[in-house]
Amino acid sequence: MASAAALSGVGLSWNSSVAAQVSSCSRNPSGFRTKMAVSVEKKQKFTLQKSQEIFNEAKELMPGGVSSPVRAFKSVGGQPIVFDSVKGSHVWDVDGNEYIDYVGSWGPAIIGHADDQVNAALTETLKKGTSFGAPCVLENLLAEMVISAVPSIEMVRFVNSGTEACMGVLRLARAFASRPKIIKFEGCYHGHADPFLVKAGSGVATLGLPDSPGVPKAATVDTLTSPYNDLATVENLFKTHKGEIAAVMLEPVVGNAGFIEPKPGFLNGLRQITKENDALLVFDEVMTGFRLAYGGAQEYFGVTPDLTTLGKIIGGGLPVGAYGGRREIMEMVAPAGPMYQAGTLSGNPLAMTAGIHTLKRLKEPGSYEYLDKVTQELVRGILDVGKKAGHELSGGYISGMFGFFFTEGPVYNFSDAKKSDTAKFGRFHRGMLEEGVYLAPSQFEAGFTSLAHSSEDIEQTIAAAEKVFRQI
Ligand SMILES: Cc1ncc(COP(=O)(O)O)c(C=O)c1O
Repeated sequence: MASAAALSGVGLSWNSSVAAQVSSCSRNPSGFRTKMAVSVEKKQKFTLQKSQEIFNEAKELMPGGVSSPVRAFKSVGGQPIVFDSVKGSHVWDVDGNEYIDYVGSWGPAIIGHADDQVNAALTETLKKGTSFGAPCVLENLLAEMVISAVPSIEMVRFVNSGTEACMGVLRLARAFASRPKIIKFEGCYHGHADPFLVKAGSGVATLGLPDSPGVPKAATVDTLTSPYNDLATVENLFKTHKGEIAAVMLEPVVGNAGFIEPKPGFLNGLRQITKENDALLVFDEVMTGFRLAYGGAQEYFGVTPDLTTLGKIIGGGLPVGAYGGRREIMEMVAPAGPMYQAGTLSGNPLAMTAGIHTLKRLKEPGSYEYLDKVTQELVRGILDVGKKAGHELSGGYISGMFGFFFTEGPVYNFSDAKKSDTAKFGRFHRGMLEEGVYLAPSQFEAGFTSLAHSSEDIEQTIAAAEKVFRQI
């Protein structure tokens, strides 16, 4: 049982004062956040004592002490940090340590955590209730925003997570094409539904897990896989399984095996092969949607899939997912059509509100230029100081998404990514934490910047990296 002392400490005596002291952010004339006016007393010594206590209790209460596997820090060693509060580009843990954050709640926090306008809008919506289980006008507003932004989407269905969006889109693709098989790519992650747990990325890759027990063979027999960036294998699969493949589904830029970009011509090649074979092309833009560009990877690369999944950013930090595509396909979804998919909390007014106000901010001119600028500074800086310290490193970025591997590269697929020195990454990760920088606790996860990251944040991060690179 969790002790009463620990429970009463969470968010109360331990660190609520920190959250209370965080004042609103200042904005420079171009409209972007420059510096957090945060009056938190920085702790002299880095300790994780309270985090440790809470995590030890959590391990008795929840499998591995967490609600989602990658949070457990297993691949980097050490223990997870228990958060107390977040604001802008910074997070605070229960021991009072402050970090510059490059995880951004795994992607949603693209305008910065706990944005004042989003919070104010949520407060207003909250007054009207938390869940309707009936249509609300906020769904129309967010749907219109998504449809006008994302080239492939003419109609959209809201769900509650990226996993749900991928499950729905898979059923829809199979229903529309009247074919059973799909092609996915090694190291890509499309949530934890059975058919996708084949050579999956994210936590499965991070923890080096085999395909999960509990997934019946029948659930994955129609999942074909190919290395990423490998058109020849995809072509061969279409030859071998002629007339059986409903769709090719992928992360248009991989984030769940670390950051891996498509080679020039790869996405176009997939578009062509799927057209030639009457199969659908599905972009899983749960991570890249509204992150690489306002219209996602499909706008950035100029390749329009048939169907798209979204999540993370369109919920502005609340649970959300969505799938959408051409009207003739989407009209197969119940109740317009026969393909069944439903959700008690889908289109939830709070999630819709946070999504609407997050997208509004992102739509302001200059957002993606700013993300590109800060991320370029960050990635160039880290690669520069790392290489100077004698490490084999490769990395890249697009807009507010980035990653680097402890291998010389180039990294075109998951096999290349696995050449990374993950033990060294673990030491780097721990060192950066002690210097006040919070990175994803895995070599096989992308990083994220936000509109709230300032040049000062980036400079501090590079200085921290320079120090840590010398020690590892
Ligand atoms: C590309 C991609 N698809 C699907 C998912 C699953 O989303 P969720 O964790 O919201 O279920 C993720 C999660 O990180 C993702 O990155």
